[in-house]
Amino acid sequence: MKHKRSMIISCALAVMAAAPALWAAPRGKEPIQPIAPVKVIDLAMAELGKKLYFDPRLSKSGFISCNSCHNLSMGGTDNLQTSIGHKWNQGPINAPTVLNSSLNLAQFWDGRAKDLKEQAGGPIANPGEMAFTHELAVEVLASIPGYVTEFTQVFGSGKIDIDGVTQAIAEFEKTLVTPNSRFDKWLMGDENAINDTELAGYELFKQSGCVACHNGPAVGGSSYQKMGVVAPYKTASKAEGRIAVTGNEADRFKFKVPTLRNVELTYPYFHDGGAATLAEAVDTMGRLQLGKTFTDEEKSKIVAFLKTLTGEQPSFLLPILPPSTDKTLRPKPFE
Ligand code: HEC
Ligand code: HEC
Repeated sequence: MKHKRSMIISCALAVMAAAPALWAAPRGKEPIQPIAPVKVIDLAMAELGKKLYFDPRLSKSGFISCNSCHNLSMGGTDNLQTSIGHKWNQGPINAPTVLNSSLNLAQFWDGRAKDLKEQAGGPIANPGEMAFTHELAVEVLASIPGYVTEFTQVFGSGKIDIDGVTQAIAEFEKTLVTPNSRFDKWLMGDENAINDTELAGYELFKQSGCVACHNGPAVGGSSYQKMGVVAPYKTASKAEGRIAVTGNEADRFKFKVPTLRNVELTYPYFHDGGAATLAEAVDTMGRLQLGKTFTDEEKSKIVAFLKTLTGEQPSFLLPILPPSTDKTLRPKPFE
């Protein structure tokens, strides 16, 4: 209960903090819109989902949780070129951020999961990630009385199934939005929220055509686009993009346009993690997507603008997980 109350209070504070922007005139039509604060969610379900998100017992090793690869202390990513999973397996692709992922048109680089609930089942059973099965994950949770009580409170039944697990995780993920970035304050009419260099960077971002693909509240996440429109992208990665889902040759090497919200925190960049820095990513985008070679000064302006997209990071008490019992399946980190 204490927990819930503090969430409500922090929401109220967020509304008050946003109030000054209401006096200033909101800007006219811009291709980017502010991130809205958390929408109405089921608080009890989100609390349960938060525990599951942090619980490594959903993995075979008992060591890997969602937060291992989508670390909420690091912009919802692992900051690795490609992720490391079960038994130190090197994954094939870069982990996108979970921040604002509820705004994506679909989940994964190729959009193969239609929403967060569908997505959340994937990593638990992926042999290279958490390497468990849905049945065993459910068995582990069912052996822990603290979870049985909480599932009963949330779903009206203590019978735990993977559907409830993924639904709760998805509900928690909906809370992971990052409103009130400096850029959003500027969008809402606060002239002083960004400086001249950052504003010049935004103008360049618009004029150069970046907004054709990176637009909307998430500054991306709303379409699949070819990587390498003007010139091909060179990579050792085997990822083929959207064609893996549609089988359509025209979708080869099309990826979901990533959100640029919090991009300062989510390095390295691209599906193969091939760009170590933002300046490098901007340079590649200019050349390959738009046929434009930016000067160092132009790049640094665009980078300055991109850094204004860092919003308020989700903040909450670290969840304390209910303990295992004598009956709980033991971790198998080396099998
Ligand atoms: C071993 C590392 C690892 C673990 C553990 C992991 N993920 Fe991921 N996650 C990834 C990678 C890599 C991708 C991208 C895969 C792809 O697109 O093919 C991804 C993609 C996602 C996405 C899609 C984001 C987007 O923009 O498309 C979401 C949401 C997500 N993971 C949530 C979760 C949740 C919830 C869990 C726990 C149940 C979890 N992940 C566990 C590495 C991991
Ligand atoms: C034709 C559509 C398109 C245009 C135009 C475009 N982008 Fe992108 N952008 C993408 C796609 C698709 C990706 C993901 C590519 C990949 O990972 O292989 C991406 C990735 C990025 C990334 C890396 C984000 C991450 O988390 O990995 C940055 C930064 C970026 N774009 C900035 C820009 C800038 C700056 C411009 C303008 C100079 C621009 N983009 C123009 C489609 C576009």
